[in-house]
Amino acid sequence: MTKIVLATHNPGKVREIADLLRPLGLDVVSAGELGLPEPEETAKDFLGNACIKAEAAAQASNLPALADDSGFCVDGLNGDPGIYSARWAGPDKDFSYAMSRVHEELGLKGLSESRGHFVCALALAIPSAETRMFEGRVSGKTVWPPRGGHGFGYDPMFLADGQTQTFGEMAPQDKHAMSHRARAFQLLLEDGVLTGLVR
Ligand code: IMP
Repeated sequence: MTKIVLATHNPGKVREIADLLRPLGLDVVSAGELGLPEPEETAKDFLGNACIKAEAAAQASNLPALADDSGFCVDGLNGDPGIYSARWAGPDKDFSYAMSRVHEELGLKGLSESRGHFVCALALAIPSAETRMFEGRVSGKTVWPPRGGHGFGYDPMFLADGQTQTFGEMAPQDKHAMSHRARAFQLLLEDGVLTGLVR
C-alpha cells in the first residue's frame, strides 16, 4: 500500500482524515507517529499554513504528505479566531475556554450569536512535484451554550445552515458527510492526484 503522511499532530484531525482516506487504500501515518517536528505556521491564511505543514512533512519523510489547516471564522469577530483557532485554546488546548472566549467577545460587541463558517484548506505535497491545494467551507451560526460531546474544537457551538443539531451533537458520519473537511476532500478526490498515488 502507498504510504501517506498526515502532517498534523491533532488527534481529532487524524481520526477524521484517516476515515476519509481509508477507503482509497492509502496507508496513513501521522506526523506525530513519525516524530516529525511541527513547523511554525507563519502564513497569513489557511492555504499558506497548509502548504508549510505539508511541505515540511514531505521533505522530512520523503513521502507524500497531506496537511489540513482549518479554523472557525466568526463574522461578528471580523473572522476571528480564524487561523488562530487552535491558539485561542491556549497551551492546554482547552476548547471550552476557547468557545467561552468567542461567546464573551461577541457579548462585548452586544451580540448573542453570529454567522460564521468553518474553513478547511488541504495541501498535498509530493516530493519533487508541485504542491496541490484545495479549500472547503461550511456556513452556519454560533450557538450558546455549546451542545454535544462529539467532534472536537468548536464543534459544540456551531450550527450549520439547515441543521437542528450542532456539529458536536451530530453522529460523526453525518458531520463527515457535510463538513468543510469533507468538501475540501471532495475537491482533492475530483482532482485525481491522490488516486494516482495508489499502487
Ligand atoms: P490547525 O491545526 O492550526 O489547523 O487548527 C485548527 C483548529 O481549528 C482546531 O484546533 C480546531 O480548534 C478548529 N477546527 C478545525 N476544524 C474543526 C472542526 O471540524 N470542528 C471544530 N473545530 C475545528
